[in-house]
Amino acid sequence: MNHAFTMASLGDGYRALVIGASGALGTAFCQQLEQDPRCAGVRMLGRHTLPKLDLEQPETIADAATELAAEAPYQLIVHAAGLLHRDRIKPEKSYSAIESESLQAVFQVNTLGPAMVLRHFLPLLDQRGAMAMLSAKVGSIGDNRLGGWYAYRASKAALNMLIKTAAIELTRTRPQSRLLSLHPGTVVSPLSQPFRGASSARPADVAAAQLLSLIDQLTPADSGHFFAYDGERLPW
Ligand SMILES: NC(=O)c1ccc[n+]([C@@H]2O[C@H](COP(=O)([O-])OP(=O)(O)OC[C@H]3O[C@@H](n4cnc5c(N)ncnc54)[C@H](OP(=O)(O)O)[C@@H]3O)[C@@H](O)[C@H]2O)c1
Repeated sequence: MNHAFTMASLGDGYRALVIGASGALGTAFCQQLEQDPRCAGVRMLGRHTLPKLDLEQPETIADAATELAAEAPYQLIVHAAGLLHRDRIKPEKSYSAIESESLQAVFQVNTLGPAMVLRHFLPLLDQRGAMAMLSAKVGSIGDNRLGGWYAYRASKAALNMLIKTAAIELTRTRPQSRLLSLHPGTVVSPLSQPFRGASSARPADVAAAQLLSLIDQLTPADSGHFFAYDGERLPW
């Protein structure tokens, strides 16, 4: 699907950085941004890029940021990495299924790694730039009606707290910037594949286009809030 898409809020010749660029949403973000005539370049980071960024190897986060500092500032940073399941890690249906190792791995990828991304990449964000981190509605404590998925829910709730806290700091130091927590909706991807059934999962390119237009519409006054792809403000 080819969109005549353009980000109006970041100025001409804006530069973008996508972390987790190999995922379904990450790839779609990169493709959309590369097609935007206003975008001067898209830097992609992940476990298999150069430099590499592995959320389970914190030194790679610091090293990647140091290496990219020469091409900073970025007007847009999107963090699109995340972990719900892999190998022996499965979302828990009951507290009796909580496993220490899985909990640690999910928190490392969804919370602790992103905390280090905030630390090392926020300094590379333009004064008027936007940084969006993909969270998940199941990380909303207020919206939790079904239970289950202990590690994933808790790791995204904690990610939301980190985003909110950093956004408060940014309002003091860079009041024209935006730091956003975004829920992409249910999207066709390896992450959602075992769990989405025959539901209304959207293709990643549609979701990425919706999220980019949302980022474009949100203002510094919206910084530090949690939004769904359709613009609905979600409860923490
Ligand atoms: N799909 C949905 O329905 C849905 C719903 C709500 C929220 N989300 C959120 O949206 C984001 C993107 O999800 P997706 O659906 O695009 O999933 P995906 O296709 O499975 O992509 C996941 C991405 O995370 C990266 N990643 C995993 N572990 C990593 C690590 N240790 N270090 C660096 N990168 C790592 C993967 O890199 P590799 O290629 O190296 O594995 C990949 O780029 C996630 O934060 C997810 O929680 C998705």
